[in-house]
Amino acid sequence: MGVEIEVEGLTKSFGKQLIWGDVSLTVPAGEICVMLGPSGTGKSVFLKTLIGLLKPDRGSIMIEGTDIASCSERDLYEIRKLFGVLFQDGAMFGSMTLYDNVAFPLREHTRKSESEIRDIVMEKMDLVGLIGAEGKLPGEISGGMRKRAGLARALVLDPEIVLFDEPDSGLDPVRTAFLNQLIIDLNAQIDATFLIVTHDINTARTVPDNIGLLYHKHLAMFGPREMLLSSEEPVVRQFLNAQRVGPIGMSEEKDADELEAEKDQELPPLPPIPMQQEPSNGIPRRSQRAPGEWCRENGVTPPPGSFEPNMTMAVGG
Ligand SMILES: Nc1ncnc2c1ncn2[C@@H]1O[C@H](COP(=O)(O)OP(=O)(O)OP(=O)(O)O)[C@@H](O)[C@H]1O
Ligand SMILES: [Mg+2]
Repeated sequence: MGVEIEVEGLTKSFGKQLIWGDVSLTVPAGEICVMLGPSGTGKSVFLKTLIGLLKPDRGSIMIEGTDIASCSERDLYEIRKLFGVLFQDGAMFGSMTLYDNVAFPLREHTRKSESEIRDIVMEKMDLVGLIGAEGKLPGEISGGMRKRAGLARALVLDPEIVLFDEPDSGLDPVRTAFLNQLIIDLNAQIDATFLIVTHDINTARTVPDNIGLLYHKHLAMFGPREMLLSSEEPVVRQFLNAQRVGPIGMSEEKDADELEAEKDQELPPLPPIPMQQEPSNGIPRRSQRAPGEWCRENGVTPPPGSFEPNMTMAVGG
């Protein structure tokens, strides 16, 4: 059913360099969240902290009553079994076939027989559309196939939480669209909690139930997709709509001169909020909300043209 992750007052630095401070958010059970942020704001560090690979300076990460930030190695080992992680490059063993790569966690962490392992591996390969490619080596397949193989491997232990670090980096737009559909379909099917780090604005606008934005060493905003897509907060507005006008510059923050120069520039209007992508079988996901529901409940008027079916993306400016 997926489990909730409750992060409270989380702070992480390396030596004197603060990466982010006082991050608090709740990743709801079974929902899809996207974490955004300029390069170097510590998104990967955040994911690594959630699985206990990095220790925060302060704060807590509660998962099923255990605090990942302070628990024993033994508890951490148990909690980690709840996670499936898709690393940025797929992180496949180059000398092993896709079959052996996907079977690896099962051989490492379970006592299942080879025939049981075969059933699970083939089921997950089928799920990600890789039947027929089991015998290939990672070097013999495309980047998109490697991502899907990495996803199959992240799923073999039936995770309650799946973390994706830029699953769409290096993919062409069509493959990204297929991967996004796969993520939605998987969430509908396994009901696990998904947290996706991405730079793809279209993914952020159409896939998740919730969006977070890391900026300038803190969590600028975290909440339902419609809340961020209708937000007038300058950093959120600029980032989610891929606009040049706003506080974010080429090297993170614009300086006073740059901001002064654009102060009379009119902001382009907020683009319409697109429909959330739906499972391909048409059956709504458990955590799916009706289009416009958050806006209605919170008295927010969405930008004109929002929630029209088959609306094309309109970002930039
Ligand atoms: N193990 C480490 N030791 C010291 N500094 C680190 C370590 N890991 C990450 N950092 C620093 O933390 C900062 C954030 O890195 P991180 O990889 O999380 O960024 P990111 O938001 O994922 O960026 P990108 O979008 O480019 O992937 C960087 O300045 C990086 O140099
Ligand atoms: Mg990263």
